[in-house]
This record gives sequence, C-alpha cells and structure tokens, in this order.
Amino acid sequence: MYTISYHMKEMILKKNYLKLVICFTFGVIALVIIILPHVLTNSRIHHRRHIRYATDLKYILFWGKTKSHRSRLAHHKPTEFLPGQRTFINQKCPHINCYITYEKDTLANDEDFDAVVFDIDYVLKMDVNFLNLTRSPEQLYIFRSSETPEKHILCDHDLEYFFNMTWTYRLDSDIPQPFLEIYSSNKTLVGPKTNMSWVERMRKSKKFSNKIKEKKKAVAWVLTKCKLKSKHADFIKELRNELRGYNYTLDIYGPCSQKKCPGGSAIKCYKMVEKEYFFQIVLEEYLSKDYVTEVMVTAMSHLAIPIVLGPADYSDFLPPGSYVNAQAFDMKKLGALLDYLIKNPDMYEFFFDWMKYYYYQVRSRSHVCDLCTKLNQYNGTTIVKTEFRKWWDPDYRDVCQRKRLYKLFNTEP
Ligand SMILES: *[C@@H]1O[C@H](CO)[C@@H](O)[C@H](O)[C@H]1NC(C)=O
Ligand SMILES: *[C@@H]1O[C@H](CO)[C@@H](O)[C@H](O)[C@H]1NC(C)=O
Ligand SMILES: *[C@@H]1O[C@H](CO)[C@@H](O)[C@H](O)[C@H]1NC(C)=O
Ligand SMILES: *[C@@H]1O[C@H](CO)[C@@H](O)[C@H](O)[C@H]1NC(C)=O
Ligand SMILES: *[C@@H]1O[C@H](CO)[C@@H](O)[C@H](O)[C@H]1NC(C)=O
Ligand SMILES: *[C@@H]1O[C@H](CO)[C@@H](O)[C@H](O)[C@H]1NC(C)=O
Repeated sequence: MYTISYHMKEMILKKNYLKLVICFTFGVIALVIIILPHVLTNSRIHHRRHIRYATDLKYILFWGKTKSHRSRLAHHKPTEFLPGQRTFINQKCPHINCYITYEKDTLANDEDFDAVVFDIDYVLKMDVNFLNLTRSPEQLYIFRSSETPEKHILCDHDLEYFFNMTWTYRLDSDIPQPFLEIYSSNKTLVGPKTNMSWVERMRKSKKFSNKIKEKKKAVAWVLTKCKLKSKHADFIKELRNELRGYNYTLDIYGPCSQKKCPGGSAIKCYKMVEKEYFFQIVLEEYLSKDYVTEVMVTAMSHLAIPIVLGPADYSDFLPPGSYVNAQAFDMKKLGALLDYLIKNPDMYEFFFDWMKYYYYQVRSRSHVCDLCTKLNQYNGTTIVKTEFRKWWDPDYRDVCQRKRLYKLFNTEP
C-alpha cells in the first residue's frame, strides 16, 4: 500500500514538473517573439550610425553639404566627391583607407571624425561659434578652396585659430592642390612645388627650327572666357599700342572677339597660333599667388612663348627661360624684348629647350588622393593655423576695413 501510494505521488509530481517545463518553454518562446523585433530594429539603427571602433579607416566629414544642398549645387560644383571610399578607389590613390561623408550623423559622435573639411563657400557664410559640431582637440579642421582671395576675402576674426590644415591650389598649403602637374620626361611627377628645382643646364634643341621659320605674326591671345577681356583690357591696350610702334599686331581670338577660331574650336586656335605666332598671351582670371590654371597646360603644349602676367611666382610653375613675365618689365622694355626675340630666331629657340626635359598635364580638380595620404602621414602633433586670414590674403586688413566702411555707408541714410 505504501509503495503504491508513493508511486502515485511521484507520478503526480512528475506530471507537474512536466507541465512546469512546458510552461517555461512556451514562456521563453513568447518572450523571444515579443523582444526580437525590437532587438533587430535597434541593431538596424546602429548600422546607419557607425559606432566608431579603432580601425585604420579615416572618416572625413565635408561640412555644410547635406543631401539637399548637394542636389541643388550639383551644376555649380563639378568637384563634388563621391561619398564613402569609392572616390579613393576610383582614383587609384596610394592610400584608400579614407571614408568621405556629407552627413554628420554618419558617426554617432562628431568627435570621431578624423577630419572635417570646410569649403570656402561655407566658410564665408558660417559663424564658427554656432556650428552645431562638437570638436575634439585630436581632430583636424581643414580649410579647402579652389577659389582665390580676390573673390573670397575672409574677415571673420574667429577664423584666426580655427583651422589645423589648408588644402588649396596654393603651393604653401598643407595639402597643395594645383591645377596642373609637371612631369619629368621619364614620367616622374616633379612639380609644381615651392622652391621647385629645374634641370640647370638644358641642352640646346634644334628640333623646332623649321617650325619657327614659318612664324610671321607677333602676339595672339586665345580667349576662352569673355570676362577675361574686360578684366585685362588695360594691359592689352597698352601692349597693343606698344607693339604698333614696331608694326606688330596683337590678335585676339575667341567667341567674344572679331577674329574667330577656325571651326570655332579652341584647340584648332592653338594649332594656328603655334604655326603662325611668336607669342601667346596667357592671362588668368585672378592675379593671385600660385593661381596658375589649366589654360597654362594648353599654352605649354604649343610652340609659342607664353606672355604671363601676375604676382604668381611662375618660377615654381614654368622652367626658367621658357616664358616672359610682363610684370617684370615696363611696356617699353617688353616691346623691345619681343621685337628682339622675333628678329633673333636663335635666341627665340632657346625658350623651347625645356621640352626635352618636361611636359605638362592637367590635374583634375576633383583629385582627392593627397587628402588621404596626408591623413595617413599625420603623426598626431598639434598644428594650428595662426594668422590664417593674413596667410590667405596679406592685404586682408585693408580690404576688410574697406568692406566694413562700405557696409556702414550703404546701410545708413
Ligand atoms: C544639431 O545636430 C543634431 C545632430 O545632427 C541635430 O539633430 C540638430 O537638429 C542640430 N541642431 C541644429 C540647431 O541645427
Ligand atoms: C626622373 O628624373 C628626375 C629628374 O628629372 C630624377 O630625379 C628621377 O630620379 C628620375 N626617375 C627615374 C625613375 O629615372
Ligand atoms: C624656399 O626658399 C626660401 C628662400 O630661398 C626659404 O625661405 C623657404 O623656407 C623655402 N621653402 C621651402 C618649402 O623649402
Ligand atoms: C607693317 O606690316 C605689314 C604687314 O604686316 C606690311 O605690309 C607693312 O609694309 C609694314 N609697314 C611698315 C612701315 O613696316
Ligand atoms: C610629426 O610631423 C611633423 C611634420 O609634419 C614633424 O615636424 C614632427 O617632428 C613629427 N613628430 C614626430 C613625433 O614624429
Ligand atoms: C586644431 O586646432 C584647434 C584650434 O586651434 C586646436 O585646439 C587643436 O588642438 C588642433 N588640433 C590638432 C590635432 O592639431
């Protein structure tokens, strides 16, 4: 009797135990079903916002250009970079471990960006005290511009100790981004750069003698932008008058000139200039330091001595004895020099000796490799751009003063 009742008791207990196990199992399954979607959506949110872990990927935020900005600015800004790593891969950069974004919430913390790039267009508009961007002392704030100070003067005092690096066409930038590249004839990139060193003794080249004999006319200017004509009107008028004294002409070709290019094509124009003219005028839209643009590459690829003008230190861009800088002469002397060279073909020929040693190529304005290379080379030392406004424009004090006065007089009755 005892054993039976014990047996029954055990069975009842076991049954309860079984129930308990089943209930518990169901409970757990139910809980998982309820919680799982939350866990999943949560992790999806975190995928959009990268949590920053230590990798060797450099995150670069381009400030100010949100998605909506980007589509609106699309026509004006052909220099836009693809987000992500693609640009670096497409351009076959030596370093591709960089990641571009235009959205600051790409990373959960602002401080985790390795660099923040501020384009001049935004620097002009922004107030650095209301940036809505948390800064870390380890981050690099980079100033970027392919525009000149002539057009974009920076007056805001708060910009003085704001940037850590500069990335512009100026050769003295931390990341220089010139508009052209100079190659040695062995295909090595050699410049432009500050204190450029050129081959010292170039050997005389007789290669072009026959071509030079064909030349009959003095000076040509191929105009690609009409606004250049009014901008440099005074210089052109003076030079033209001076040349008239020697019975030489200065001919202007292009869409906004009476002389049209053959077939309306600038390339054909340059071919014609190479054949017929001794000199070609190469003027930039802005006469600013180091502002030497793509048009110089075209000029240097055609056989006519370039006449340049400006404070740009052309010796970092053009081989010695390959050009005439009008800035270095008064008009009388310039006229005499051109006349002398036209009448002395032997001397004239010296100006093309460099062609045995160097050639020019346009550098794409969307070239971005050097940015990634710089971030990889950066060793963590503190860099601060002091006197930044003066670096950008040595005359900024006067210009800003004038701007302030102008504002004052134009707002008060
Ligand atoms: C500042 O940035 C945060 C995060 O990106 C954003 O949610 C917020 O709206 C911004 N505030 C202002 C005033 O723009
Ligand atoms: C190419 O030429 C430059 C000088 O013009 C020289 O410094 C460099 O070593 C040369 N490179 C090669 C690979 O020969
Ligand atoms: C270039 O040369 C000048 C003087 O000749 C010197 O002061 C300057 O430091 C040099 N710059 C570089 C980058 O070597
Ligand atoms: C000036 O040049 C033209 C041709 O370009 C020529 O016909 C004319 O005789 C020259 N006049 C003088 C005074 O040399
Ligand atoms: C870091 O790089 C700078 C130049 O970019 C150099 O002057 C400095 O000595 C370097 N510091 C170290 C610790 O290597
Ligand atoms: C960048 O400049 C800021 C402001 O001058 C400075 O506080 C910070 O330490 C600098 N960062 C680096 C990495 O040099």
